[in-house]
Parts: sequence; C-alpha cells; structure tokens
Amino acid sequence: MTMSINRTRTPQKNNPDAPQGLEASVISKGLRTSVIGQSIQIFSEIESTNAEAASLASQGAPEGTVVIAESQTRGRGRMGREWISPPNRNLYLSVILRPKRYHDRLGNWTLSAALAAAKAIGRTTGLEPDLKWPNDLRIKKKKIAGLLIETLVQGKHVKNMVLGIGINVNMSRMDFPEPLRSTASSLSEVLGHTVDRNRLCRMLLQELDSNYKKFLDGDFGTMLEGYRKRSETLNQRVRVQVRQKTLEGIAVDFSEDGALLLKCDNGILRPIYSEEIVHLREDLVTGN
Ligand code: BTN
Repeated sequence: MTMSINRTRTPQKNNPDAPQGLEASVISKGLRTSVIGQSIQIFSEIESTNAEAASLASQGAPEGTVVIAESQTRGRGRMGREWISPPNRNLYLSVILRPKRYHDRLGNWTLSAALAAAKAIGRTTGLEPDLKWPNDLRIKKKKIAGLLIETLVQGKHVKNMVLGIGINVNMSRMDFPEPLRSTASSLSEVLGHTVDRNRLCRMLLQELDSNYKKFLDGDFGTMLEGYRKRSETLNQRVRVQVRQKTLEGIAVDFSEDGALLLKCDNGILRPIYSEEIVHLREDLVTGN
C-alpha cells in the first residue's frame, strides 16, 4: 500500500510565479512500484534531502522512503560541490535503499540509477538526455541533472544508502548563477515550456524501482547495454586525474561494476572508479 505524507519544515510561502507544487498524493497516484515510494515525505525547505534521508535511515525509516524538497539551503553535489536549489522549480529527491546483495557492484547501480533518470525524463518530455560517466545527465553538452549516492557500509554490508537526484526542471537562465550559465541548463529551457514536476517525479520513482529490481536480480548486462546506448563518454578522448597522476586516453567501455575502462595513451587499460572525467574535444570547444 502506498502511504503518502506531506511534511513542511518551513511553511510554503505563496509564490505567484511557482508552477504547481509537489504533492505526495499526486505523485503516488497510480504509482506502481514494489520498493521505492511506499512513503513520500515532502519538505518546503530543507538543508539537503540527502542529509534528511540519511538521518531518517539511521532512525530506521523503511527502505524505499523518498524525501523531496521544494528547496535546499545546502544542496550537495559530487566532489564537495554545491547543488543550486532554488524553490519551486526543480526536483530535489533522495531515496533510502538497503541493497542486500552485490555490495561489490554498487558502481553498476550508480549507472543504472542515472539510466533510470534519463528514461524518466524521456518518457515525460520526449527529450533524450545523454549520460556523461558516471552519472551526469546532459542535453547538448549542458548538465540538466546529477546523482549523488552516499553509502554507509558496515563490514561487507550496506547499512544505509541514500540515492540523491537533482533535476533542473523549470529553471530559467537567470536562475543559474553566472558561472553555471554556459555549462548547465534545464528541461524547460530546452523545451520552451514548463514541465509537470509531479508527473516527472512519479515516472522517476517507477524507473528507479524497475532498475533497482534488475540490479538486485544481477541483471547487469541489460543495464549496461542501455547505458552504453545513451553514453556520450564512450569512444571519447578523456582526461582524468587519479590521485596525483593525470591520465589521458579513450573511454572504450564500462565494466559490470560500473568502472570506466580507459585505454591509456601508453596502451594500458585502466578501470576508473569514481574520479571526475573531462571530455577532451569538448574541452577545446568550451574551455572547461
Ligand atoms: C552532482 O554533483 O552532479 C550530484 C548532484 C546531486 C544533487 C541532489 S539534489 C537532491 C539530493 N540532495 C542533495 O543534497 N544532493 C542531491
């Protein structure tokens, strides 16, 4: 049974410019998932949905609990960066997970979750985001969504995992801080019209649930196949910093445990696990 709760840490202010607010009852209407979304908690303003989900998880909240916020005051990005989270425009969402197996393949789940987000955007808007390894979603080379997975491991077991997703849905050019305007975009900016966030969120939960089941069934091959098709990193010349060393080469494939397989210029094949990569040809164009 789907239980939905709307929680308000900061009361939602009336904002005449805001598109329809996120509603747990609307998101869960017709939601067909087995694990993800049995409980949906929506906050008006919160530090970070990942932080809130981690705290709920440590208090024993059930697997599949979803935490959503209309705005975040300290949205977390990868590599310690900030995730810009203005109110009432986007999706900021975290899911509590406790995968019971394949703790050595969690990188695969990262890719799988990114693929699920790309599919959800496709099904809702018709857009086809590209995947920049490991889990950036981009359209015309501009980032529209990112994932941050934070895992608490005990021994060989995952005690709690928080899967956080941020999607720039209805953000306008001016909503982005100046430095991000050349590298980030939103669905509404690409489409020229706003997107129904409740519908997108429902689709996202469904796609995540479906890929999570596949992951737990050990169906890594199907997922990788889908990921490769949407990957803009595959066959690209990339640069990556591994500890103090800069490596350059061609991204030739991904492994079942989610690593990027880099054929280095010295001919050696190196698996890259969590570092940030740069696509080199693009580097020349944008100067990033
Ligand atoms: C990235 O750097 O690309 C990852 C961004 C992840 C942002 C999301 S927004 C919802 C969740 N809560 C956070 O604090 N971060 C993630």
